[in-house]
Amino acid sequence: MHKDCERIMLTEEQLRSRVREVAEEVDKAYAGKRPLVVGILKGSIIFYADFIRHLSCPVELDFMAVSSYGSGAVSSGKLNIKKDLDKSAEGRDIIIVEDIIDSGFTLANLKALFLERGAASVVIVTLLNKKDRREYDIAPDWNCFDIENEFVIGYGLDYDERYRNLPYIGILKREVYEK
Ligand code: IMP
Ligand code: MG
Repeated sequence: MHKDCERIMLTEEQLRSRVREVAEEVDKAYAGKRPLVVGILKGSIIFYADFIRHLSCPVELDFMAVSSYGSGAVSSGKLNIKKDLDKSAEGRDIIIVEDIIDSGFTLANLKALFLERGAASVVIVTLLNKKDRREYDIAPDWNCFDIENEFVIGYGLDYDERYRNLPYIGILKREVYEK
């Protein structure tokens, strides 16, 4: 285990089997369709890569990079698009793949944006869900794990751009972000 981890919350094995289970459910729901699978950079990349490999429907891949904050630490209350889709959302069945829903700000805004652009449907698939932190009226259509309000790292998730490459989800030691 990495020295900055308090403990491992989800092991590689737990991630592997649950991601597969959820992906197979999503796959069933998209039989006969050709969804546009939109990964939210960068936190979703590892989940995304594992998830799409269990889909058998023809998928098209696309990505968005967004931030909810300006340069300061205070929320600007507006979604900042750093990288937009390559494809048009119009008429598409969109599957948003995200690492974690916290306040719900990011996903509430993205879902509204895709619908505004004329998407035929928009669903949210998330790896983690911090239910108790929700401030916006949005829920995942598929969620792999509900978690407590702890800061987690690994399997794509970062703290200050570090730890994304850890193969498991760990709880970050408080001393790392409190010093
Ligand atoms: P929301 O817009 O408040 O739902 O924020 C979601 C985003 O916050 C995620 O995409 C992550 O980038 C980040 N985030 C929230 N909680 C954590 C965490 O525990 N570890 C790492 N990133 C997190
Ligand atoms: Mg993120």
